[in-house]
Formats: sequence, structure tokens, C-alpha cells
Amino acid sequence: MKPNAQIHRHFASDNYAGICPEAWTALAEANQGHAVSYGEDLWTARAADLIREVFEMDCEVFFVFNGTAANSLSLASLGQSYHSILCHEIAHVETDECGAPEFFSNGMKVLQIAGIHGKIDPAGIERMVRKRSDIHYPKPRAVSVTQSTEVGTVYRVEELKAIWAKTRQFNLKLHMDGARFANAVASLDVPPKEITWQTGVDVLCLGGTKNGTHVGEAVVFFNRELADEFDYRCKQAGQLASKMRFLAAPWIGLLKDGAWLRHARHANAMAALLHELLSQIAEVKTLFPRQANAVFADLPPQVITALRQEGWKFYTFIGQGGCRFMCAWDTQEADVRSFVDDLKRLLIEAPKDVPSPVTNHRKL
Ligand SMILES: Cc1ncc(COP(=O)(O)O)c(C=O)c1O
Repeated sequence: MKPNAQIHRHFASDNYAGICPEAWTALAEANQGHAVSYGEDLWTARAADLIREVFEMDCEVFFVFNGTAANSLSLASLGQSYHSILCHEIAHVETDECGAPEFFSNGMKVLQIAGIHGKIDPAGIERMVRKRSDIHYPKPRAVSVTQSTEVGTVYRVEELKAIWAKTRQFNLKLHMDGARFANAVASLDVPPKEITWQTGVDVLCLGGTKNGTHVGEAVVFFNRELADEFDYRCKQAGQLASKMRFLAAPWIGLLKDGAWLRHARHANAMAALLHELLSQIAEVKTLFPRQANAVFADLPPQVITALRQEGWKFYTFIGQGGCRFMCAWDTQEADVRSFVDDLKRLLIEAPKDVPSPVTNHRKL
């Protein structure tokens, strides 16, 4: 089969997408003349203020280059090297950051908790904390949740409150990996404060890249004491951009008129359409509740191979398996329909004796 030259947008990741127009315009506006470096510029101040407005809270905000840095540096700021962080067994911080949280914290251990649909079971927090209390065990210090999760589900307000209750009971800090926080807000349709500081989140890593910026995430400390000397941590880790205005300005484009939520709603809607169309195909088994911009499904192995030969890109070993189809701010209805049309055709045409698909190395 020849690769299909008509495929312009894939379902591999929302970070396959380019820069959204609002972020692009803001970047161009920031690209005028000289500005003070290392975050002392007006663009950075304005972007941080807009984040404070969105969360209706006087939080501390830092801009870093990527999600791994945001997660690992913010987690490191929650405790000491002998502490541990509890997270879901398929959390990005555990499975996809190459040990960066342990590295940047000088050895904090990441401990895994199970739970259905990619969400931490609050009882698991208690089990993990009570498991050992002796000096030979890395003392639990923080819980990390991903919102929306690695399998595209979303923690509801009550679920976050149940986790918060456990963190209060055991004196743990609460960290949120919000690489796809916008998709969670769009899905739940709640004010951002209701799923962050009002449910006990101490620090949020707010995703920009998957929402439409060129690069960069924001670390948002609702618990301001924890932000003490975080600027030094960023600098030491190589995360203090000298031309910071170009990390900050895209946030202005995203936030000032609500583009961040428009894009997230659109990506979620495209995933809803894809989920609906896949659910109508008998040979396809969808895997998790579709709540944000990801759809997971089991497809016959020969069809996975054939789709890839046609040129479609998607991942097959995220979390607990299955194919992951991720929609982005720029996914079009025509992309979804064209993918589903190819899938339906290949279910009939694809030879049954092809080898199983090779597990692809991917970036989430
Ligand atoms: C859940 C989650 N957290 C964080 C990240 C950020 O990772 P990166 O370091 O590639 O920006 C990603 C992106 O793949 C992700 O899916």
C-alpha cells in the first residue's frame, strides 16, 4: 500500500499540531524591538497576570520549556530527597519522564497506585501511606494526579475532593500534571479554580504546548510558600529562558479572549465524533470513557499495520494498551471521517496474515 498523500493531520498526539493563530499573533507582537531578559519583561508579567485571572487567585507563576521540567521541578519543590511521591501507575511522571522527577529531586521515589480509567483510587493513597512507617521506607510526601488523565478520562470535582481528603489526612501535598488541563476544564465545564486550589491542589503544571503554543508550560503555585526559591531551581535545571517573552507571549494569545478553552472544546468535540464513529464499527472495541480529547480502541492487528502503511500515525502502547487517537486544536471533521473511512475499508481489504504491529516508540 502506498502512503496516502492526503493525510495532513494525524491522531498520534496533540503535540503533532502546529501553533494556533492566537499564539502565533502574540509571538509576532512580542517580536518587536528589545525587551528585558530572564522574565523581567512586560510580556511575562502580563501572561502571569492572565493566569492569575483565569484561576481567580494570586498564585505564583513560572514559565518553563516543557512538561517534564514543569512536573519534575515542581515535584522536587514539594519535599526532600528521602520523600516519595504517589501517583497512578501509568502517570506520565512515572512512565514517560526518564526518571526526571527522581533526578531533579535528588532521589525522591515515585510510588505507583492503581485505579481504574487512569485515575488514582483514594483508598490506594491510604494503603500506600500505611504500608510502612519505619525509617527504611521513603516517606510519602505528595500525591500527583494527571488532569485530564493519560487515558483521556477526567477527574470530577468530587473525585478530587476525595483525594484531597486523603492528602489532608496524611499531610501530603497535591500536585497536578495539567498537560491537558484545558481539555479537562472544557469537559467538566467548571471554573478552573474548582478543580485546582478549591480542591486542594498546591501546584499545577499547566500545559501550553498541547493547547496550541509552540513550546512551554506554566508552573502555577497556589500554595505560594512552596514557590520559595523556585526561580533558582529553574535556573539550575536550565529552564530559565533568557528570551522569556517568547515563552510567555503565546499564553497571552491563548488566554486573553478564551482561545485556550475554545481550542480544547474543539479538540474534545473531534474526539467525541471519532469515538461515536468507532463505536458503530463491530470489529472495533473502544476502551475508556471518552471524556477529553483522546480515544482509545482495540483494532484487529492487521488493520493497525494497514492503517500505518496508508500513512496514518498513532500510538499503541500508552498506559494499558490499545490504540490511542488524540485530537488537537486543529483536527478537522474531515480528518476524522477520512480516518474512519480508511479504517472501514481496511477492515475488509487488509490481508489477515500480516505480522503483528511493531510497538512504536513514541512521544506522548
Ligand atoms: C500527561 C502528560 N504530562 C506531561 C507531558 C509533557 O511532556 P513533555 O516533557 O514532552 O513536554 C505530556 C506530554 O507528552 C503528557 O502527556
